[in-house]
Amino acid sequence: MPLLELKNLKKHFHLDKHRTLHAVDGINLSIKENEIVGLVGESGCGKSTLGRTIAGLYDKTDGEIFYRGTRLPQSYSSNDFARLSQDIQMIFQDPYSSLNPRMTVKEIIAEGPRLNGLWKPSEITEKVSESLTRVGLAPDHMSRYPHEFSGGQRQRIGIARALALQPKFIICDEPISALDVSIQAQIINLLGSLKEKFGLTLLFIAHDLSMVRYISDRMAVMYLGSMIDWAQRTKFTIIPFIFILSCSLVQTLSLIQRGSVPDLTRL
Ligand SMILES: Nc1ncnc2c1ncn2[C@@H]1O[C@H](COP(=O)(O)OP(=O)(O)O)[C@@H](O)[C@H]1O
Ligand SMILES: [Mg+2]
Repeated sequence: MPLLELKNLKKHFHLDKHRTLHAVDGINLSIKENEIVGLVGESGCGKSTLGRTIAGLYDKTDGEIFYRGTRLPQSYSSNDFARLSQDIQMIFQDPYSSLNPRMTVKEIIAEGPRLNGLWKPSEITEKVSESLTRVGLAPDHMSRYPHEFSGGQRQRIGIARALALQPKFIICDEPISALDVSIQAQIINLLGSLKEKFGLTLLFIAHDLSMVRYISDRMAVMYLGSMIDWAQRTKFTIIPFIFILSCSLVQTLSLIQRGSVPDLTRL
């Protein structure tokens, strides 16, 4: 049984009375436990919307999400969301805006487990220390605020926050795009080793292949809200990628002819 399965998943944004943006438009995807799936696609093709919809941050418009074979509800109550967030967490692209500047690192990391009743007040300091050590930061960083850290360190805090709830599945939404190239490999390596250590399953979103192909078991290519193709990492070189892109173009044109892909120019 796959850990996560998406069936014809759709997320449309109603921009106004007459205009609907088909940001995610019929995605089918199956992810096995302990697998890293890379998801690449141009900016604006719906990757973040897909990630947020899976994580329950957006209600889906249509389709189904199965987690360990159980169908997730159409929209989430706060209880549903609390339960879901213990299994599925997200790491965001921008380590500057994704951390609340008015909260200390300790408050940021402890917020989820505290709200979910996972950590008792008496054990929070110890648990936060463990969380920071796990991502290569020092326990005494916990009393500081996000602005006191570099981009790479902030992303480590974001990873520590995601891991604090002991999730099984993490959606990494371009977690290295905003970082210096010299730091990107460190974060990739950290995610790879945490995946091994905690038996995680990752959906790793990227806008290009440069880093993601090193850690992904499988790669999916997304185009204008639709999943287009798959490639095995071992066979993944630039030539098949060009092949996939050209196939994608042909498939996309045929989808547009069948009316399955939103024609954004008509908005
Ligand atoms: N909350 C929203 N409301 C309206 N449109 C949105 C919203 N979020 C994303 N979009 C639009 O949906 C499309 C896909 O966006 P996004 O998922 O962020 O793409 P990506 O992550 O691949 O760059 C874009 O056209 C974007 O402008
Ligand atoms: Mg995005």
